Amino acid sequence: MTTTARSETLAVKTAAKPSVTPDRFATSLGVLTATLGSAVGLGNIWKFPYLTGENGGAAFLLIYLACTLLVGLPIIVTEHMIGRKGRGDAITSLRRLAPNGPWWLIGASGVLAAFLIMAFYSEVAGWVFAYIFKSASAGALSTDPATTSAAFDSLVTNPVLSLFWQWFVLILVGIIIMIGVSKGIEATTKRLMPVLFGLLLVLCVRSLTLPGAAEGLTFLFKPDFSKVTGEVILVALGLAFFKLSIGMGTMITYGSYYGDDQNIPVNASRVVFADLAVSLLAGIAIFPAVFAFGFQPEAGPSLLFITIPAVFASMPAGQVFMALFFVLTGIASLGAQLSLIEVPTAYLIHRFKMSRKWATIITISSLMVVGSTAALSNSLLSHVKLFGKSPFDLFDYVSSNILLPVGGLFLALLAGWVLRYDFFKEALSNGGKLKNERFVRFLYIIVAFVTPLLVFLILLNSLNLF
Ligand code: PHE
Repeated sequence: MTTTARSETLAVKTAAKPSVTPDRFATSLGVLTATLGSAVGLGNIWKFPYLTGENGGAAFLLIYLACTLLVGLPIIVTEHMIGRKGRGDAITSLRRLAPNGPWWLIGASGVLAAFLIMAFYSEVAGWVFAYIFKSASAGALSTDPATTSAAFDSLVTNPVLSLFWQWFVLILVGIIIMIGVSKGIEATTKRLMPVLFGLLLVLCVRSLTLPGAAEGLTFLFKPDFSKVTGEVILVALGLAFFKLSIGMGTMITYGSYYGDDQNIPVNASRVVFADLAVSLLAGIAIFPAVFAFGFQPEAGPSLLFITIPAVFASMPAGQVFMALFFVLTGIASLGAQLSLIEVPTAYLIHRFKMSRKWATIITISSLMVVGSTAALSNSLLSHVKLFGKSPFDLFDYVSSNILLPVGGLFLALLAGWVLRYDFFKEALSNGGKLKNERFVRFLYIIVAFVTPLLVFLILLNSLNLF
């Protein structure tokens, strides 16, 4: 039996039992689902569709796919490898494996990135939770673009509601961590993920059978490269990092949970594939409906919230399904947020020898303050622009399009040029037990040469230097 087959059998045998152990996952299924709990979230369901819509559809999708394969996959493998070898959180693992040189700074920039992501992510998660309740009122459920847009606007332009829902989410995340049930939430996320997947499939079928749906598919799958600019490529790259939770060390922490006999390259490929599948389903649920009902594909961050209710409005028992959809999306967002908030919290615990309780209180309350500027970006602070961007957009831009890619660039350089091929070969073949030399050599070449060059060129290109 091959190692993969063996661990799969193990996974099946133990699937009924809780698969989370304090510091090691016994099965590949355990690591796979835990990693997916961090990766799958609003990045797939909210961000992917709206950025694809805003940046011209299929051409953006293709560039995004290239970034995922040439940058995302190699970096997620690298992070898992560093985590398993370093057996610690990002900063600790980096310090252990590369003691000479400031490589641990990648982990430090990850702390900032996680904080900035949470500052706007918690707001979008707030909208998701608000929509659970909106689905019960008739106002949001309609196939008329003007009606669903007005329902969304009434939420985001209302400062009290925007703040309320963001703080609700932040406090919920804080409570989950403080009463120590985050493992329980992770386990719930894992169990509910297949339900979310199933519901997305139902939505796809409904959306695809709407009259006029074909135009949406053409938009999503027939590339028109005329809209592609340096900035569009940077956005696609940023999305690849954001969706896979890479470039900031989160996946190093997950790597430290890997058992010595688990197959990192295979598992990481599955994560990338599953994450992509969820995004594509979200896209197929949304775009046919966008064209069928006359929405604007470039609606921006509101896209999910104005189109999905229209799909539900055209389905039997739409209200119930809509509530279920937002409950599941909310839970998926909690899984991702728990992995995000862990980064600054763990840092405070290590650096200042704080208790977990105080580290959580400090992180959550700073997020309530800083994040409120994102929550109020569409209301009280709508006139505030920094570098031409609202606080909400700025937090997103700096984290997704600058900090994560730069973190990824240095991770690739570290792996390719400091740790080198022999390290890769030993680490990814589990000391020679796995016969995957060709795949590992291929991955190594990508990590050492293609990934850093590509990320570097895309970053330069977005500065309009050439
Ligand atoms: N990948 C998560 C999502 O798609 C967001 C995230 C980014 C989580 C970075 C952790 C770290 O929703």
